[in-house]
Amino acid sequence: MDAMDSGLKFIPGQDGDLDTTQVFLPASDSKRLEKKPGRRKRTWLGLGLVLGAGAVALLTGMLVWHFHLRSDVRVKKLYIGQMGINNQRYQAAYEDPSSSEFSQLAGLVSTQLKLIYSKNSVLAKSFKGSTVHAFSEDDGGGGGHGVVAYYQSEFDVHVLQEDSLDQAVQSLQPAAGSQAGRHGRLLLQPSDALTVNNVFSQAIDPRMTRNSLFVRKSFNLHARDSGVVQSPGFPDSSYPPNVYLQWRLRADAGHRVRLDFHTLILEDDCQQDFIQVYDSLAPIEQRVLTEQCGYPHDSLSFLSSGNVLLLTLVTSEEKNFPGFRANYSQIPLTQQECGGKLTGDKGFFSSPFFPSNYPPKTTCIWTIEAPKEKFVKVQFNKFFLGKSSSECSGDYVDVDGHRLCGTKSRSTVVTKGNMMTITFVSDSSYVDQGFTAEYETFVPTNPCPGRFKCSNNLCINATLQCDGWNDCGDASDEDNCKCEATQTKCRNGRCKPKFWECDGSDDCGDNTDEENCGACKPGEFSCRNSRCVPEKMKCDGRDDCSDGSDESTCEKSLVLDQCSQFTFSCRSGGCISKLNPECDGEQDCGDGSDEENCNCGIRPYRSSRIVGGVASREGEWPWQVSLHIRGTGHVCGASVLSSHWLLTAAHCVQDSGTNKYSQADQWQAFLGLHVQSQTNEWTVQRNVKRIIAHADYNAFTYDNDVALMELDADVPLNQYIWPICLPSASYHFPAGREAWITGWGAIREEGVSATVLQKAEVRIVNSTVCKSLMEGELTESMICAGVLKGGVDACQGDSGGPLSVAAPSGRVFLAGVVSWGDGCARRNKPGVYARTTSFRRWIKENSGV
Ligand code: ARG
Repeated sequence: MDAMDSGLKFIPGQDGDLDTTQVFLPASDSKRLEKKPGRRKRTWLGLGLVLGAGAVALLTGMLVWHFHLRSDVRVKKLYIGQMGINNQRYQAAYEDPSSSEFSQLAGLVSTQLKLIYSKNSVLAKSFKGSTVHAFSEDDGGGGGHGVVAYYQSEFDVHVLQEDSLDQAVQSLQPAAGSQAGRHGRLLLQPSDALTVNNVFSQAIDPRMTRNSLFVRKSFNLHARDSGVVQSPGFPDSSYPPNVYLQWRLRADAGHRVRLDFHTLILEDDCQQDFIQVYDSLAPIEQRVLTEQCGYPHDSLSFLSSGNVLLLTLVTSEEKNFPGFRANYSQIPLTQQECGGKLTGDKGFFSSPFFPSNYPPKTTCIWTIEAPKEKFVKVQFNKFFLGKSSSECSGDYVDVDGHRLCGTKSRSTVVTKGNMMTITFVSDSSYVDQGFTAEYETFVPTNPCPGRFKCSNNLCINATLQCDGWNDCGDASDEDNCKCEATQTKCRNGRCKPKFWECDGSDDCGDNTDEENCGACKPGEFSCRNSRCVPEKMKCDGRDDCSDGSDESTCEKSLVLDQCSQFTFSCRSGGCISKLNPECDGEQDCGDGSDEENCNCGIRPYRSSRIVGGVASREGEWPWQVSLHIRGTGHVCGASVLSSHWLLTAAHCVQDSGTNKYSQADQWQAFLGLHVQSQTNEWTVQRNVKRIIAHADYNAFTYDNDVALMELDADVPLNQYIWPICLPSASYHFPAGREAWITGWGAIREEGVSATVLQKAEVRIVNSTVCKSLMEGELTESMICAGVLKGGVDACQGDSGGPLSVAAPSGRVFLAGVVSWGDGCARRNKPGVYARTTSFRRWIKENSGV
């Protein structure tokens, strides 16, 4: 199959219509300028050389400068633009670039552009020619149905005049706020000329004119018959390198184009591969609605303001990813899509087309009128209006003259009267998801009937007051509380559960709960081996604790004379003081062994059952494995350690009754899986060759709950299947560190299991705290993690799966293996995991990984 065949119609006449080969500056040949050193006395030789070199440099500089000024170094500059034409009627034939109608109008547009450029000396001097790429009907604004032409103009300019050329082109834009017609009056002379109502052009994005973009193609599609656009090869193969593709989408007059992405997976670097969506048929920056690369998490549904939309894809040399698939369709432009009068005590409104992105160039006005004696309150629950600017000049929401823009967490606005006017405005570029809002009318004397009123005007359930959690968002529900016996009193007056003391995270907000945690006196540093040393000995370049811990988080890493369980051992012997030095991108061991075997723990995407979790993204957890028992389906999770070794829990591979879970042939491993029973092109299934359960696994205490599984054949490693990093024995996961749990296990205690891979964020819990919470059933080779409030945890079916912790470098390490818990997600009952650092040696000895 042709690599470019994406199942779409390709219009041959359009091929290569973006020939944008650029002429680059000739490199100055400085080799010729080398100067032979003169003969000097020996003693002067050194000085002479220095002076000589200086002179050469000076001369070279001057020559280059001269060369630049004098010679005629010219560059080719391309501008892309659109022009509104009033005195032409749109014809269907304009969609076909090979029609005579197209050529005729294109000729007129070219002449017109030439005329416009002739009015400006800079433009006139350097103008080379224009090419018209497309037409669309102009059904916006002025009422009359005209035509919009999309063109590219080429200029050839002296390198020093590039800026003035840019300025001259800029000056063609209608000044902000000015009405159409300005250029028409100013610029048109011949009577047969076009009546132009606006022109604007812009230099082409340099990423689109790269010399290495070998393939340039355009596709014309009509959204009347909705259909699919996808990157070439999708989903069977990755998109081709070095292409610039554009899809021109047109709708009938009086309609919008709608484009909904199902999948979008590109390289995670917008300088390399990216898509853009424009509210135009030309890639004009002023009309770009979005630019995306990587694996975006946002809503990817777009609407045009008029009846055209352009989608572009640019790809680089290497690292090609699956690409995208999107649906296009048209929807009628209705009179009132948004805004209006809101009545009633409470209600709901949102930006147009929420949760799709709002269209550009849209204004909506809502008015809320409450009975005379009442006030109005509006709460924005979601608020995504793109980048914020200080004066909110782009897209914004105006509430009674007060502008909101950018991205906001929940915010509330209250009137001091019974009326409120809310205006939403989007400009011509960069759209976003928009907002959802709830309004409520209230009696000023009683703003939160039966509930607690936060300082930020939010009303919350009265029982949430003083529970240790910030429910208001501004923590006003946790101020001025009387603490109960089970709570710690923070200096700032807040109350927090006692269990949160010394868990490594500042829950009070003033650190009260994290003070006096070690056995050491104030002014002393608590070593990890529980010794105390004066605070000032920290980072003094000497191992005062004798376990390296006072030197472990310092700028300089120390090579220690003496190793301890808290120090990383280099292969060639010797230990280093630095905490968690492995795979952090810096070589700490003289032999580099701390940076070996580091092809793990990365995700190609940004840029993610579990109780209390949410669905993860495909490819977010490439080390997650689903272990199936033949005929039964998913039973346990596991983590990818290498192309043929997995780590799971020993309790998953114990026989129970007639179920021979310990036998390798009972199991099937699914890697790169996202949705249970929905394998796709990147899912790999393997049989299990061998199971090695830890010999000291204790079925009563769950001690040593780890097992290795060897696959019958190697799996390919790619963005969907990738090993997680195994921490060395000395790796430290401090209490309070964020960790992620993932799996297809039960979504609540005794509940059903998940179909889509779930993820949830938990925190590492201090082992002393955990021991008391779990009533002493904890061993040294277990690590606890959870959310002590309850509600978030691993559960049945998650066993064997990873407890993933990202290092500061972004690399993800396997902190634990899901093992056991007291129920699931109960309050003050964290999940218990097999502590992988305790099994580092065992893993190496048994699998070689
Ligand atoms: N043993 C369970 C299983 O086989 C996992 C338990 C994890 N429980 C918890 N509350 N963290 O799937």
